[in-house]
Amino acid sequence: MDRRPDQVAAMFDHVAAKYDRTNTVLSLRRDRVWRRATRHALAPRAGERVLDVGAGTGASTVELGRHGAYPVGLDFSLGMLAAGRQTRPELALLAGDALALPFADASFDAVTISFALRNLADPVAGLRELHRVTRPGGRLVVCEFSHPTNPAFRTAYLSYLVRALPGVARVVSSNPEAYDYLAESIRAWPDQRELAGWISEAGWSRVAWRNLTGGVVALHRAER
Ligand SMILES: C[S@@+](CC[C@H](N)C(=O)[O-])C[C@H]1O[C@@H](n2cnc3c(N)ncnc32)[C@H](O)[C@@H]1O
Repeated sequence: MDRRPDQVAAMFDHVAAKYDRTNTVLSLRRDRVWRRATRHALAPRAGERVLDVGAGTGASTVELGRHGAYPVGLDFSLGMLAAGRQTRPELALLAGDALALPFADASFDAVTISFALRNLADPVAGLRELHRVTRPGGRLVVCEFSHPTNPAFRTAYLSYLVRALPGVARVVSSNPEAYDYLAESIRAWPDQRELAGWISEAGWSRVAWRNLTGGVVALHRAER
């Protein structure tokens, strides 16, 4: 699959029903730790407006409102949004495209994207759109799968991705084929340094990153 927007949206529509549970199982419950770390890195303060792009069912969005900020989630899969509205009716979850955000320039204090940048047809264009809707001095955090830095751990992880993950997905997911795509897209994704370069290229300053779970996930931070 070549990240065609209609195919990506349809794929997420089909995993939506069991998405949250599948995530927790496949990540061996690390998803909660990664979401908490994303909130810490973004540091949303009470009263701030925070945008979560590619919010899916809102699992990443709900974490951002824990200390009084106003999070808004946006996604183009109506299936994911419907699942999120059922489980998290209190959240503001909107339909929209990450590459043409339906917001005015500089309308958010902080923006974030968790496990969704990899799915965009043009990730640098997505980073530019996030930059456009962030106020000067505002913050970005990208939470995305990355590449483990320890060679032995990296080999074990790649073998998990290719061998174990599709089998587990067959048992827990409503659309196991989507998880073959997941493994492929993670392997093809740039490493930490290259992604930092893309973020700078999109106009962001003070780009830095830190690894979670040995680099299975990386958090990239930047300022507008
Ligand atoms: C792996 S899910 C991540 C969901 C959520 N952020 C989380 O951490 O659980 C990726 C989401 O990105 C959304 N997505 C991909 N491309 C998009 C685009 N161009 N515009 C809006 N949403 C998009 C998909 O529909 C999907 O819900």
